[in-house]
Amino acid sequence: MASVQTIEIVKATVPVLEEHGATITTVFYKNMFNEHPELLDIFNETNQKLGRQQTALATTVLAAAKHLDKLETLLPQVTQISHKHRALQILPEHYPIVGHHLLGAIKEVLGEAANDDIINAWSEAYDEIADVFIQLEETMYEQALWDGFATFKVVEKSAVATDIAAFTVIPVDENQVIDLDKFTLTAGQYITVKTDPTDSDNLALRHYSLYSAHTDEGIKFAVRRDNRNEHYGLVSNYLHDEVEVGDTILLSAPAGDFALNQDLMGQNDIPLVLISAGVGVTPILSILEAQIASNPKRPIIWAYACQNEQHHAFDKQVNQLLASAKDVEKQVFYFDSGKLLDDRYLATLPEPADIYVCGSMPFMESIIDGLTALNHGLDKVHYEPFGPKMSLQAS
Ligand SMILES: Cc1cc2nc3c(=O)[nH]c(=O)nc-3n(C[C@H](O)[C@H](O)[C@H](O)COP(=O)(O)OP(=O)(O)OC[C@H]3O[C@@H](n4cnc5c(N)ncnc54)[C@H](O)[C@@H]3O)c2cc1C
Ligand code: HEM
Repeated sequence: MASVQTIEIVKATVPVLEEHGATITTVFYKNMFNEHPELLDIFNETNQKLGRQQTALATTVLAAAKHLDKLETLLPQVTQISHKHRALQILPEHYPIVGHHLLGAIKEVLGEAANDDIINAWSEAYDEIADVFIQLEETMYEQALWDGFATFKVVEKSAVATDIAAFTVIPVDENQVIDLDKFTLTAGQYITVKTDPTDSDNLALRHYSLYSAHTDEGIKFAVRRDNRNEHYGLVSNYLHDEVEVGDTILLSAPAGDFALNQDLMGQNDIPLVLISAGVGVTPILSILEAQIASNPKRPIIWAYACQNEQHHAFDKQVNQLLASAKDVEKQVFYFDSGKLLDDRYLATLPEPADIYVCGSMPFMESIIDGLTALNHGLDKVHYEPFGPKMSLQAS
């Protein structure tokens, strides 16, 4: 536990660092990648270019520092980040590197204002925060279904909608036995793919949600070609264009805490509401599958939005699953025909409900804002952003 003096200094200096937060983390990344170019194979090049990770790390360290005397209250947020760290294979030895360059950047940006007392206090605070992550990640490494990035072979690749390809892969790793029959995958989780795309000087890692937790044919995920803003998405285009049946790819074991609330699965008086858009259907489909396998009597509301019928992914699979449920309401919204999944629709949802949402960031923001305005408690709304999750709330 950090000393009282450290806690006081850290809390008193948070506002100054918040003011310079973006500059500090920009300097931090520049210096860290100069000294450790091997880390460019772990960090997401596009997030770096677009400044996404900068914001996430800065706000998280500051938010954690504010809670230095009660770090345990941040466990839900740390858990979500640690899942990503474990999936990306961030190791304990990486933490001192980040600590060293973060402290260096604070010194560089604050100049003389960063006296020894301040630097020592932040050093102690960072070690304390890093320790929480390292300990949690140690448990996650122990529980992971396999070690590191293992080799899998693509046994099936099919188009499930315009620009969405589904992959089924089986383990063929030479260094470890991965017996899928012995695994129970959790619906809602994601695997992480490690690729070496021709368009980049570095390796590129990306997460893809399982669209089914069944492993009888292999591990199943689906990828949308991500070509927004006239920029070609590095990994999604590589998987679409260069990875075919028979090829091998590297995957780390499933991760993530977006999952069905087990306590409510059996409760037929609290409906399950599944809302998704576009390729955001993937984790939601596996959650639907898990609910029906466990309790098909629970009322289910399925709402899905996409551009048009050609972009509608997995409709057949959804209909097959819904056919075995007892009490179902299904709504499909095609933007092209002007039918929107908007606040008017959200207002028709029952309360209380157990709600799961996945889609693009703007879609999710609008759904979450709409649900919050309708007084659906945020503890009942679960969501999985397909990008860096909102960082810790500084309160
Ligand atoms: C937990 C989780 C689960 C996920 N599950 C899925 C899933 O099931 N299916 C799925 O398809 N995706 C999923 N994703 C998203 C996936 O991980 C990738 O982010 C996605 O495939 C894009 O990666 P990419 O390398 O193709 O694009 P990137 O190269 O990372 O680019 C991302 C976006 O930024 C744009 N861009 C790139 N450079 C610039 C620039 N300079 N200026 C402006 N825009 C730019 C690109 O056009 C693209 O739209 C998930 C993500 C997370 C975090
Ligand atoms: C206490 C220290 C750390 C904090 C507070 C922290 C915080 C975060 C946060 C908030 C995210 C975004 C999570 C999301 O996507 O939802 C993240 C992702 C990530 N972190 Fe950390 N992190 C820490 C240490 C490290 C270390 C030591 C490394 C490795 C050198 C690392 C590498 C990454 C990578 C590669 C990502 C994925 C995002 C990307 O590539 O852009 N982190 N971290």
